Amino acid sequence: MTPYDRWTLRTENTSYTVRLSPDGPWAELDAWGPHGAEDGPSALDWSHRTHFITPADAAPAEYLPHGQRPFTGADLIAGRPGRERGVRWEFTGAQEGPGTLRLTFTDDLIGLRTTLCYAVVPGTDVLHRWTELTCTGTEELRLERFDSGAVNVPVTSGARLTYLTGQWSQEFQHTRLALTRGTFTMGSTQGTPGHAYAPWLAVQDLAADDAPAYGLALEWAGNWHITAEAEPGGAVRIRAGRVPHEGAVLLAPGATLTTPRLACAFSADGLDGLSRVWHRYERHLTGERLHRPRKVLYNSWEATGFDVDAAGQLELAKSAADMGVELFVVDDGWFTGRADDTAGLGDWYPDPAAFPDGFDRFVEDVRALGMDFGLWIEPEAVSPGSRLLAEHPDWAYRIDGRPSRLVRNQLLLDLGREDVQDFVLATLDRLLTEHRIDYLKWDMNRPPTERGRPGPVPAERLDLDAAHVHGYLRVLDHLRTAHPHVTVEGCAGGGGRVDHTTLARTDVVWPSDNTAPLDRLAIQYGFLHAHAPHVMSSWVTDAPGIFDPRPRSLAFRFVTAMCGVLGIGADLRTWSPRQRTEAAGWIARYKDVRDVIHHGEARLLGSPDDATCGVQYDGADGRTVVAALNTGRLDGAPLVPGRPARLRPRGLDPDARYRDEVSGTTYGGAHLLHYGLPFAWSADHDAELVVLSRHPARRPA
Ligand code: DGJ
Repeated sequence: MTPYDRWTLRTENTSYTVRLSPDGPWAELDAWGPHGAEDGPSALDWSHRTHFITPADAAPAEYLPHGQRPFTGADLIAGRPGRERGVRWEFTGAQEGPGTLRLTFTDDLIGLRTTLCYAVVPGTDVLHRWTELTCTGTEELRLERFDSGAVNVPVTSGARLTYLTGQWSQEFQHTRLALTRGTFTMGSTQGTPGHAYAPWLAVQDLAADDAPAYGLALEWAGNWHITAEAEPGGAVRIRAGRVPHEGAVLLAPGATLTTPRLACAFSADGLDGLSRVWHRYERHLTGERLHRPRKVLYNSWEATGFDVDAAGQLELAKSAADMGVELFVVDDGWFTGRADDTAGLGDWYPDPAAFPDGFDRFVEDVRALGMDFGLWIEPEAVSPGSRLLAEHPDWAYRIDGRPSRLVRNQLLLDLGREDVQDFVLATLDRLLTEHRIDYLKWDMNRPPTERGRPGPVPAERLDLDAAHVHGYLRVLDHLRTAHPHVTVEGCAGGGGRVDHTTLARTDVVWPSDNTAPLDRLAIQYGFLHAHAPHVMSSWVTDAPGIFDPRPRSLAFRFVTAMCGVLGIGADLRTWSPRQRTEAAGWIARYKDVRDVIHHGEARLLGSPDDATCGVQYDGADGRTVVAALNTGRLDGAPLVPGRPARLRPRGLDPDARYRDEVSGTTYGGAHLLHYGLPFAWSADHDAELVVLSRHPARRPA
């Protein structure tokens, strides 16, 4: 093998080595792991003996087309329309740059150039992979499958897959599966990542409890799939990509299709380490905006629903401000015709009946309380009776001759159309320039059902899913450039659209409409495996559990919500003075530690299945914050000769001393690592926020 046949990309702590296969014209994985993992014979090497399959089927291939990899799953299915499908390509060149690699393969018969692209994300352990497909012939090409990339993980008896699954109100459930043989697939055809699965997967060798972890996240806000296949030769191969709405995409001569990026992450420290790799990556995506403090928000949705009027909102705003809330957000129901969910969407003008002294007067009244002002909007949605739909019936997706079904009594605008994008941009510009708005909650509550675009272009020539995603990203990009001061929250009926393209253009996302304490804890536990605390909006509400109605204290609700970006969504009109005082205390404590929570390194301590669990945040300032929660019985240890529960922090310096800033108790680092922090839970004490400040190490004599 010549030195040019092998390329290594280095992230902060890992390396990813690709080589040209000795068996045929394709690239394959040589090594992926900690720095130096590539120094030795490849763990993916195999016997080169095949029976009934071809070497391409058995190879740890980075990307292979149907035609070349006939039996075990191709990453690309392309052909000339009406002719046989199948690509047979030759390797035609490699281009290496600092932290980048491009490998090109060409099929002259059908006229296709395929470039596998790699780029290291600076300051992280994440590598981006994507593929560029160019039609080089004179005939167009039909692409049925065009994955972003494939990833190979060597395993012994099988793989442990960890993924995040659920449904509306139950998103991000941390789920595990042992894959020894066969195929596991997940995805969405809902035009968004969806509530059912997050476009995120972790893969580990089943042989160990918490083996080094490989992570994948597909950066796409539309239809997608991630598929893992356990192969007979002791490897799992994962493919990921977008899924075209009409089943295929046509590529015109000269045109290039660029797939979404597949973010690939590795941690030698198992799932917990992998979560920190993703957190750091998301801090990188947030960039400079990470340093704007995420303000404590009040959102009125759970308190008033559609029943929005100036007087009621101001009453809530006053209470919120008194507690130390910094931002007041009016949710759904502020615009004309919006008495319930049957009408109003599309006509984005404040309802004069709800704001009799004018909307701006109301906004100024809120601001006079010392808070920023925020507004909810669902720009892709339109209600059947709206003026917008009457004026532009073709702006909503529909199929000629077919009735349009309603989901949540509404239709979806075809945001792939430029005129629709321009309308949305103009609407947002108008609202954000005419009124003093600092925060926008962008919601989306219905997937496309009859997804067609009436007009001269045949459906097979419309890549509607991609067009919608590009429209969505164009509008979000515009918000960033034209209204950089506006904080943007991403929401899709809860956590239906959480992906890296969204996270790169928003400041926070709303993981779920389920704000009930124990339910929320499980949602956040899953969410934090994939996403960083600074993007996780979380509210303290009055909601009883939807899936777990066991009561929990106000403290529990606050400590849970403080694990991300704290908000309040409760009906404050019903809160007693005692509750308000307690809330004010929690808000003040949160403000004191939010930098540690949002910028620090987070560790999940146990899981909500344990009677005591928590999250630890280590700040650069030497402070460690531990959010500790009792999910167990509330008739605690003090009644019987029991001992306090213990929660073990990790990663502390065993030689340092740590002082609890509230109780004043000091602990040796070794003690904390060995025994953990003590918590004497009782019926009315089920959560605690511990702030430890580190003191210079006390070295043994
Ligand atoms: C769904 C969101 O997830 C909720 O937070 C709320 O904004 C409603 N939509 C409003 O209709």
